[in-house]
Amino acid sequence: MAVALTFRQMRERQAARRALENVQARVAGIIDSAMDAVVTVDEDQRVVLFNTAAEKVFRWPKSAVIGQPIEMLLPERLRAGHRRHIGRFGETGVTSRRMGDQTVLVGLRANGEEFPIEASISQHSEDGKRLFTVILRDVTERVHAEQRLARSEARLRGILDSAMDAIITVDATQKVVLFNAAAEAVFGCSRSEAIGAPLAWFIPERFRAEHEQHVKHFGQTGTTSRRMGAQRIVTGLRRNGEEFPIDASISQITENGAKLYTVILRDVTERVQAEDALRRSREELRELAAASNSVREQEKSRIARELHDELGQALTALKMDVEWMRERISPDQKMLEDKLNAMHGLLDSTVAATRRISSDLRPLMLDDLGLLPAVEWLIQNFRQRTGITCEFALGAPDLELDDPYATAIFRILQESLTNVSRHAQASLVEVTLDAHEGEAMLTVRDNGVGFRTDAPHKPSSYGLMGVAERAYLLGGNVKIDSERNRGTTIEVRIPLRRSLEEA
Ligand SMILES: Nc1ncnc2c1ncn2[C@@H]1O[C@H](COP(=O)(O)OP(=O)(O)OP(=O)(O)O)[C@@H](O)[C@H]1O
Ligand SMILES: [Mg+2]
Repeated sequence: MAVALTFRQMRERQAARRALENVQARVAGIIDSAMDAVVTVDEDQRVVLFNTAAEKVFRWPKSAVIGQPIEMLLPERLRAGHRRHIGRFGETGVTSRRMGDQTVLVGLRANGEEFPIEASISQHSEDGKRLFTVILRDVTERVHAEQRLARSEARLRGILDSAMDAIITVDATQKVVLFNAAAEAVFGCSRSEAIGAPLAWFIPERFRAEHEQHVKHFGQTGTTSRRMGAQRIVTGLRRNGEEFPIDASISQITENGAKLYTVILRDVTERVQAEDALRRSREELRELAAASNSVREQEKSRIARELHDELGQALTALKMDVEWMRERISPDQKMLEDKLNAMHGLLDSTVAATRRISSDLRPLMLDDLGLLPAVEWLIQNFRQRTGITCEFALGAPDLELDDPYATAIFRILQESLTNVSRHAQASLVEVTLDAHEGEAMLTVRDNGVGFRTDAPHKPSSYGLMGVAERAYLLGGNVKIDSERNRGTTIEVRIPLRRSLEEA
C-alpha cells in the first residue's frame, strides 16, 4: 500500500516536474521570441538571462554575456550611475517601473557603438534571491526621426517667422495653433498668448458671425485656397482694440482627419490710406477741371460776345461809312473809288473773320437760342467746311436742355465732328440727339477708317479725354465703338436732373 502510494507520489511529482519544465520551456520560448531585448541580472548584477533580441541589439552572443557584469552593456561613463540606480531600485522594492522616464538611456554594443534605448525594469525573487529584469528597445530610428522632425520644425518655424505676412493657423474649432512672428507684430499679441486662443480675438465683434460662416462654407466647399473678401478688404483687430484693414487669403488642409485653416494676411493700413488719398486727390482734380471748364466757357462766351457785339458792330458801322463815301465821290476820282472798294472788301472779310472767330469760341446762339439751333448751326457749318454728308436726327422734337447739359453736349458734338474731319476720312456722319426717361443721349456715327480704342493714349491728344470728362462730371458715360475700316461710333449718355442745384 505504502509502496503503491509512494509510486503514485513519484508519478505525480514527475508529472509536476514535467509540467514545470514545459512552462519554463514555454516562457523561455516566449522570451526568446520577444521583439524586445530581455536581460535579467542577479543581485550581483551579473547577467543570467539574455534573449535573442538582446543578442541582436547588443551584438554579443548569449555565451559571451551570461555570467558577466551588466556594465559590459553600458558606456563607461554611465556604469557607476547605473549600479546605484539598480541598487536603489532593489531597496525601494518597487517591483516594476520605467527607467529614465524623461531621458532616453544609452546602451553599448559589442563594437563600441552607443545607442539610445528605452527600458523598463522589474524585480522578482527566485529561491530567496532577487532578480532584476530589464526589457529594452533600441530606439535609434525613433530618436533620429524625432531629431529630423525637430529640425524640420525648427526650419519651418524659421521660415514662418521670417515671412513678411502674418500667418495664423486655426483648428476646426477656430482655436489658434500657429502664430508667426509677423502675426505677433501685426496683432500686438505674443505667440504664447495667442496659441490656444479663439480666432475671434483678432476679428472685430461685428464681423465674427459672418467670418465663422465664411470659414464653415469654405470648409464645406473643400476649395484648397482662396482670397478672402476679394471685393472688400477685411478688418482685423489688434489686442489693444485698434481695428485695421487687412488683405487675406485662406487655405485648408486635413491633418489626421482634422481640418486646419491657415490665414495669411497683411496689414494694408498704409495702402488703404494711400488709396484714399489718391481717390481724394482725383476728386479734387476733377472738381478743379470742372471749375476751370466752366470758367473757360464763361470767358469764351464773354470774348465771343465782345467780338461779336463790339468789334462786329464797329466794323459794320465802318462798312456802312465806306458805302456812304463811295456813293458820294465823283466819278472822276477813280483812284479813290478803287481804294474804297478795296476797303469795303477788307471790311467784309474782317467781319466774316470776326464772326467765325467768335462762333468758334462759343456760338452765341447756344446762350441766346438754346442747344438745338446751336447744334443745327454746328452741323451745317461742318457740312460746308468738310463737304461730308451729315445726317441729323432729333429723337425728341421738343428737346430743351439748359446748362451745364447744353454746353456739355454741344462741346462733345463739336469735338466728335472735329475728330471725324481730322481723322476719319468718312463720307457719311449720322448724328442723333435724344432725351427721354431723364437721360440725354447723343450718338455720332461715321463710316470712316476707325481706330483702335485699346491703343495707348497719344501724347497731346486730349479731345476724347475731354469728352469723357465732361460726361463723367455730369454723372454720365461715353462709349466708343471703333474698329479699323468699320467706322467709329461715339455714344454719350448723361442723366438729367430736374434742377441745377442737384447737378
Ligand atoms: N472718328 C474717328 N475716326 C478715326 N479715328 C479717330 C476718330 N476719333 C478719334 N480718332 C483717333 O483717336 C485719337 C484720339 O482722339 P482725340 O480727339 O482724343 O485726340 P486728337 O483728335 O488727336 O487731338 P485733340 O486733342 O486735338 O482732340 C485720334 O488721334 C485719332 O487717331
Ligand atoms: Mg480730337
